[in-house]
Amino acid sequence: MRVVVDGVSKTFRDKKGKEVTALSQIDFAINKEEFVVLVGPSGCGKSTLLNIVGGLLSPTEGGVYFEGLSAKQDDPRLGIVFQEIALFPWRTVIDNIAFGLEEMGVGKKERLEKAKVYLDMVGLTGFEQAYPKQLSGGMRQRAGIARALAIEPDLLLMDEPFSALDAQTRTLMQEELLTIWSRTRLSTLYVTHNISEAVYLADRVVVLSRHPGRIKEIIPIDLPKAGRDSEEFRVPFDDYVKQIWNLIRQEAEDALKEG
Ligand SMILES: Nc1ncnc2c1ncn2[C@@H]1O[C@H](COP(=O)(O)OP(=O)(O)OP(=O)(O)O)[C@@H](O)[C@H]1O
Ligand SMILES: [Mg+2]
Repeated sequence: MRVVVDGVSKTFRDKKGKEVTALSQIDFAINKEEFVVLVGPSGCGKSTLLNIVGGLLSPTEGGVYFEGLSAKQDDPRLGIVFQEIALFPWRTVIDNIAFGLEEMGVGKKERLEKAKVYLDMVGLTGFEQAYPKQLSGGMRQRAGIARALAIEPDLLLMDEPFSALDAQTRTLMQEELLTIWSRTRLSTLYVTHNISEAVYLADRVVVLSRHPGRIKEIIPIDLPKAGRDSEEFRVPFDDYVKQIWNLIRQEAEDALKEG
């Protein structure tokens, strides 16, 4: 499936009733089997844009179109992963992963079988019957990813899914996500603050600027997905990181001053 974001703008009213333009005239596409990463300074509208693509917010102008849905389908199936995964504390891990399938009316046997496939895929084998509070932060995040994948979405949306994790866990999760993505090849929109993470994961990086959020540049990452972080590609990898940082540095500093 291909997702087209067409002329999307979004205006909010702040507490005093003043209009704030969060996004202005955003045009880009997420192609079939493409991993697109959104980066930009704090407050530039990344989450707003992801929520609009996910249908959780409506744009003030423009629209989001999904091309290549099967004839039977009116709406795309979306898998969404947020920074803080909200697992149901009273459900076991396997039942949390199966939740979306249950909502879709999939029978018990089939949904548990499917949930098990994704539980194994994210490396939680053996934790089927554990409860969320018994898991580490990284494991909970894996369970959340498995839950999003289990519904076999047309599009995966992830908003800073690893930013609450410690640095080592985060690195491992990035590697794992890449492995999972290589298997599923899902069209993905991924939001991060972390530029190295963006270069590591992306087919293309969409750099947003702020006030109002606009597309500053779209940068294709022309490196193989596997082994991108190896010594062989260290120089071009670092060049991409520098290029993107130079695009957002000034605005990131401004965002910091404004608090
Ligand atoms: N519900 C809302 N009501 C009013 N203003 C909002 C609302 N949601 C977002 N905004 C404003 O829209 C702008 C974009 O916010 P958004 O959360 O999308 O940015 P972001 O890039 O995700 O930021 P961060 O990197 O901090 O997560 C900000 O100026 C924010 O204050
Ligand atoms: Mg955000």
